[in-house]
Amino acid sequence: MTKLTACRSHAQLQQHWREIADVQMTDLFAADPQRFSRFSLQECGILLDYSKNRITEPTLGLLFGLAEELDLPGWIERMFSGEHINITEDRAVLHVALRNDSERPIQVDGEDVMPGVRGVLERMEQLSAQIRNGDWKGYTGQTITDVVNIGIGGSNLGPLMVAEALRPYWQDGLRVHFVSNVDGTHLSETLRELDPARTLFIVASKTFTTQETLSNAFSARAWLLQALQDEAAVASHFIAISTNREKVEAFGIDAAHMLEFWDWVGGRYSLWSAIGFPIAVAIGMDNFRQLLAGAHCMDEHFRTAPLAQNMPVIMALLGIWYINYFGASSQAILPYDQYLRHLPDYLQQADMESNGKAVTRDGEAVDYRTGPIVWGTAGTDGQHAYYQLIHQGPHLIPCDFIAPVNSHNELGDQHYKLISNYLAQPEALMKGRSAEQARAELTRAGIGGERLELLVRHKTFPGNRPSNSLLLEQVTPASLGALIALYEHKIFVQGVIWGLNSYDQWGVELGKELANIILPELKADRTGAEHDSSTRGLIDHFLQHRRPG
Ligand code: F6P
Repeated sequence: MTKLTACRSHAQLQQHWREIADVQMTDLFAADPQRFSRFSLQECGILLDYSKNRITEPTLGLLFGLAEELDLPGWIERMFSGEHINITEDRAVLHVALRNDSERPIQVDGEDVMPGVRGVLERMEQLSAQIRNGDWKGYTGQTITDVVNIGIGGSNLGPLMVAEALRPYWQDGLRVHFVSNVDGTHLSETLRELDPARTLFIVASKTFTTQETLSNAFSARAWLLQALQDEAAVASHFIAISTNREKVEAFGIDAAHMLEFWDWVGGRYSLWSAIGFPIAVAIGMDNFRQLLAGAHCMDEHFRTAPLAQNMPVIMALLGIWYINYFGASSQAILPYDQYLRHLPDYLQQADMESNGKAVTRDGEAVDYRTGPIVWGTAGTDGQHAYYQLIHQGPHLIPCDFIAPVNSHNELGDQHYKLISNYLAQPEALMKGRSAEQARAELTRAGIGGERLELLVRHKTFPGNRPSNSLLLEQVTPASLGALIALYEHKIFVQGVIWGLNSYDQWGVELGKELANIILPELKADRTGAEHDSSTRGLIDHFLQHRRPG
């Protein structure tokens, strides 16, 4: 396997970086009145403006050359054709099959998975309709008003993010809640106001072995039974979503109330599968199908567009440019839309669990940076928290600004205010403020002498800080589906460039194993001798100060 650093284009990109590193974006804009149209494109209801990046046509040419050299087109083909590209788990990676509403069959190990996918969608349609129209009755014959999804990681973040993003599509009188944390506070606070007779739990876990989810599910069952006083009530109040039928049955959930999915759906790519059931309950199946259609639109674009006009490819290669040539180590996701406030958390898992790796598919250590630290919050809150560092700190932090043209909640001129901020921040990051500008402003304000020179240094912004701007017509099921798929494919492309297997997550195992050693020690009130002195000291302190629960 060729490593990034062994590529001819890599050496060319390093040389090109030396030539371009000090070029100001403001000069590039001044020299080219067509820069916006040259470096923007529209696909599946999303406008991507990538003109405020430290790139020229030759930069992109070299980046596309790198992608060709590392056989990106071949990898796209391998993913869509169901090859086992998740080599450590020996699995295909086919979340694209879940939203394939074309007639194209998709094979895994010689079998077309599409009939199974359509079958589960139909089942989701029936069950979600029953819950929404009141045909699904709780044990005491009452209709369901509250649905609580119990899951964590990919079995929580995707459904939570999408359900919250699409709140304008929720049915009145039916609420969906999400519980993930093993901290009992999460479940307790969620259940505090709920009526057991009208509450339905969805236990969502790909493996059905995850400690947090099973603990919360057992506690939820105990809460239900305490109120309804009959084991038989579980059948009317629990649905399971999993790939593991045996474990679901062992938990006591009827197989008739189980929605299945498959091992070729990665947890963090699973919101399109039955894991998306709470979304379907909240927004209805027609809207859920729109979400899938939006994602499918992006899939088709990604699969068929030439690299130079391919939105996920362009976003991925811009990331590579900053991470591997400018030395950036983080990526900010800044949605200017309150409904999209969970998007940064969702992308944290999608990106960091996929590409937070330092070994190539062949098992060789990488000698270059890989997955960035992904973070962010909804604008404009972040502006009053950490934007200072993005503008004037020493770190180069590429930012994705995301906003809808139309709001679901037009209050006076507030949407114009929101969007003026969405537009101003990338402009300010790019333009900065020169010492001359700062000096002129301060002089106009009547400041002079030593104080003037001191303030000039503080009020100068370096500028030349890169960003992408994404505009959706509105946050709708279809545009959101396309947006999520855009990022999924961006992550895939970056994984290919870095030579990673983006679809396993061994790094999360060690902590789980050690927690399983510590748990019985805490319960038995003893400290294991094999721990280091720090861990032992902390366990001792905990046990000494622990009050009986
Ligand atoms: O934290 C590791 C992980 O395996 C994630 O990849 C996954 O999304 C999460 O745990 C939950 O797993 P499951 O759906 O099997 O409960």
